[in-house]
Amino acid sequence: MKFFIDTANLEQIKEAQDLGVLDGVTTNPSLMAKEGITGTDNILKHYVNICNIVTGDVSAEVIATDFKGMVNEGEMLASLHPQIVVKIPMIKDGVKALKYFSDKGIKTNCTLVFSAGQALLAAKAGATYVSPFLGRLDDINQDGIDLIEQIVYIYQNYDFGTQVLAASIRSPLHIVRCAEAGADVATCPLNAILDLLKHPLTDSGLAKFLADAKGTK
Ligand code: E4P
Repeated sequence: MKFFIDTANLEQIKEAQDLGVLDGVTTNPSLMAKEGITGTDNILKHYVNICNIVTGDVSAEVIATDFKGMVNEGEMLASLHPQIVVKIPMIKDGVKALKYFSDKGIKTNCTLVFSAGQALLAAKAGATYVSPFLGRLDDINQDGIDLIEQIVYIYQNYDFGTQVLAASIRSPLHIVRCAEAGADVATCPLNAILDLLKHPLTDSGLAKFLADAKGTK
């Protein structure tokens, strides 16, 4: 399973990259706003800065919601850097835009997916990635992992090339459950990735080994 980091924070992206386990980055307009990145020029520069830190795919989201607008914006985003993946919302014109970019060989990430039917449409349209938001489903009392399992099952049935990018991850347990479910990618906040490190028996075991190495009791 690939690990993407879900942030527009350059320091956090660098930290995950330095850990040596990072395969890419996802962003969205809310994550950009959280870092105070506003205005088209600044946003575009920020995408390039992110691409210069990591080696993998970097999702950049369109703001337009009509086909023509998404195509224009997506082509401009894709021309910024070869690592850019155009992030398109799961709406009717979005499906058309996914097909358009797929035919042109431009990578896409279909975002705001909350059902298996939506994921099926994204795959039919040739999306590179589909992003089911599992945390937001959990928030409304639906099991987000069930959706990941359902999409993985459907895609395997028909050998779709679209990769399941589990999004809206909130915890290390979400990451492990996504790996069990067979997600191709998990996009996570830095703290969820770092929390995978933690186990009290690792801490106490290491403390004992270090004490024994020094000959202390
Ligand atoms: C995915 O690409 C989104 O940026 C993200 O995972 C949404 O997560 P949230 O529900 O924590 O906002």
